Amino acid sequence: MRQHTTSFEPVREWSTYPPVEETIRSESSLGWLRRIAPIVMTHRWRIIWSVIAAIIAMLAQILVPRVVGLAVDRALIERTSALSFFVIILLILGVARASATFGYRYGLYGMAFKVEYQLRTLLFQHLGRLSFSFFDRVQSGQIISRANSDIRSVQMFMAFAPIMAVQFFSFVIAIGLMAAISVPLTAVTMIALPGVFAIGQRLRKIMFPLSWVVQSRQAEIATVVDESVNGVRVVKAFAAERQQIEALARGAERLRWANLVQHRTRASHTPLIENLPRIALATVLLVGGLQTIDGALTVGDLISFNLYILLLQAPFRFIGMLLILGQRAKASAERIYEILDEPPGVDDRPGAIDLIPSSGSISFSAVKFAYGTETVGGTPGAESPRTVLDDFNLEVPAGQTIAIVGRTGSGKSTIARLLMRFYELQAGVITLDGHDITSLTQRSLRGAISLVPDEPFLFSTSVHENIAYGNPGATSEEVEAAARAAQAHEFILGLDDGYKTIVGERGYDLSGGQRQRISLARLFLQDSQVIILDDSTSAIDVEIEERIHHALKDLLKARTTIVIAHRLSTIALADRVILIDDGRVVADGTHQQLLEREPRYVETLASTVEEDQPWS
Ligand SMILES: Nc1ncnc2c1ncn2[C@@H]1O[C@H](COP(=O)(O)OP(=O)(O)OP(=O)(O)O)[C@@H](O)[C@H]1O
Ligand SMILES: [Mg+2]
Repeated sequence: MRQHTTSFEPVREWSTYPPVEETIRSESSLGWLRRIAPIVMTHRWRIIWSVIAAIIAMLAQILVPRVVGLAVDRALIERTSALSFFVIILLILGVARASATFGYRYGLYGMAFKVEYQLRTLLFQHLGRLSFSFFDRVQSGQIISRANSDIRSVQMFMAFAPIMAVQFFSFVIAIGLMAAISVPLTAVTMIALPGVFAIGQRLRKIMFPLSWVVQSRQAEIATVVDESVNGVRVVKAFAAERQQIEALARGAERLRWANLVQHRTRASHTPLIENLPRIALATVLLVGGLQTIDGALTVGDLISFNLYILLLQAPFRFIGMLLILGQRAKASAERIYEILDEPPGVDDRPGAIDLIPSSGSISFSAVKFAYGTETVGGTPGAESPRTVLDDFNLEVPAGQTIAIVGRTGSGKSTIARLLMRFYELQAGVITLDGHDITSLTQRSLRGAISLVPDEPFLFSTSVHENIAYGNPGATSEEVEAAARAAQAHEFILGLDDGYKTIVGERGYDLSGGQRQRISLARLFLQDSQVIILDDSTSAIDVEIEERIHHALKDLLKARTTIVIAHRLSTIALADRVILIDDGRVVADGTHQQLLEREPRYVETLASTVEEDQPWS
């Protein structure tokens, strides 16, 4: 839905999906479960009724041995009650257990999948707020695996943990029921408990680091796969498939090893946890059998006892599983929290105002900037990085078109990124219409500027949607007019489905020049006061470029424009040219003036400008 109440044109708008409101607790010293509690607590009613259903299922199960024992004594040995009575009770218990089991499984899985949805949305919302320096630094495979397998292991724990809590509860009740029959025999049954407890503790300690290693190696593999797929052109061009396969095999081998150690640990601990209690079967037969011979215990009691011991096997199996799932969920949750705890790089200042676009005058004063200096998670970034801009000053009056020329790596694109506030300055101030850009909301700031970046990025949707990316409400006529201005209309009509053609991933099934023209067409749809063209026609023929310039000249007339140019024809669009070197402006004037009095300008042009026309 478009919001017409705002005074600026937002670059991107919220979908109709409501954002997830609740979030994890920010105190990182808390345990992982306490941190996620606010999210889980949104489902408290569902959890409560599911647990009640689970308790009903458990009671229905736990009464069975007692009923069977009583049936043997009363109906078979003493013959004081009818056998059918006990049979009917058992049937009722069976039906009750089946329906209650359906209820709690449905409830708990539903809750777990909702938590999964919330976590994933939360993670994605947070990613949207993170700084560019975070994305410069972090591998996409790490993010993908956290959004997938880590969230899944938390989800599994969420579904199982309440069932296991109920199982544990049933364990306590079963012991109570056993004690009601015979306290000494119950004590004999518990003979293996201390051993089980000790093994469980040991397993818990080993599982946590192992789970962490497994999850992070999965992320390593995701990164290799991601790079091999996205970089397939480079991989093939260098015939480096082998290299990629080796990288993948190395990662896969490391994962295999970690998985194996994890499962070996599991295999050597869980059978002990599960089977130690079976010792009780023997001891109970011995002690209970002697008591029955002495007449202190009935045959029915002994049968009940044996059934209880078999019933107790399940909770013991669950203890092992709970420990493993729990440790894995803990490791995964902490990997997710690592991202959620990442402070948003560039945040709106409290009380930030919406920019109401007016003239579009820009100024940079005493700007100092280096990449990677932002503190990340409390620790300063990499070792002192090279300063890109140092004491950079530039005034662009409203309506002017200015070209920035400089050697490659001199910081031209950086100037555009700083104006969009993709990164924070180390020193100095940038203003737009006289407002310090840090005092503006980012949405309004970015809404007022149209940037055509040096690397056009297309999404895997239709050409129409790609052009209308910043203005999802644009009509077909508007999109077509924009495409005509960008000289894209003709080639788009030549595509299989015209404007409805779905472009391949990143638009790689189009040529570089075609991608650039679609990216430029977005510009013609936006009504921004400030336009930045970062080398946006570099892959387009000179002839077509000339026609684009014709359309651009009209568009740029009333707007403030920064063109970053490698071509004289593009520089010719500008009223004024600045030359940057060593992080500051070293020459400023018209193209003609700079040619006449600035040897460095001539030198830079000679090294960077394509010889598409004689200098004039
Ligand atoms: N995301 C980044 N993280 C760290 N360093 C960066 C990043 N982007 C650019 N740099 C460095 O900053 C310097 C300026 O880069 P910038 O992209 O602004 O150059 P440019 O003038 O646009 O070059 P070109 O003409 O090749 O596009 C370069 O030395 C580059 O290595
Ligand atoms: Mg650049």
